[in-house]
Amino acid sequence: MRMKMKNIVLTGFMGTGKSEVGRKLAERLGMTLVELDAEIEKAEGMTIKEIFSRFGESYFRDRETETVKRFEDRENIVISTGGGVVMREENMESLRKKGVIVCLTATPETVLSRTGGSDERPLLNVEDPLEKIRELLESRRPFYERADIVIETDSLTPAEVAEEIIEKMKELPGR
Ligand code: S3P
Repeated sequence: MRMKMKNIVLTGFMGTGKSEVGRKLAERLGMTLVELDAEIEKAEGMTIKEIFSRFGESYFRDRETETVKRFEDRENIVISTGGGVVMREENMESLRKKGVIVCLTATPETVLSRTGGSDERPLLNVEDPLEKIRELLESRRPFYERADIVIETDSLTPAEVAEEIIEKMKELPGR
């Protein structure tokens, strides 16, 4: 009998490739992709950028937690999360219920080069985004480090990251 696979929860900083890797994984494994940010936008009828500018970050964080909870009992999904989801323990408890936590990492320079062309990330719309990235990465490091699987993405394509995740999942007990 084929063992049932756990959900795959992709965490990591902005620009580490969670959405793209999520698409590849879902395709490869025949799972459904859930993008938390897109779900929040759908529910609110606004972009993330609009939510931040109209209601502020803490409002966004509450919607994020609600959305995590909405999916906590679903199975056979790949969940691509927003970069800040790891900061609330209750989010991680929900996500761990049925999922393996994967964290994608990248250097501040890689993050900047992947996010630099867009103004859709309110936290990085500042005068010195590289400095901001370094600061946020440093303060979030302890949260990101708690993942079951950590993958450095700087020199990998999204398809290669997806393959590496699949390989590492095989080594996990009770996957
Ligand atoms: C955020 C990351 C964003 C989005 C919001 C806040 C963060 O998602 O949820 O702008 O706090 O790191 P991505 O990681 O998909 O860019």
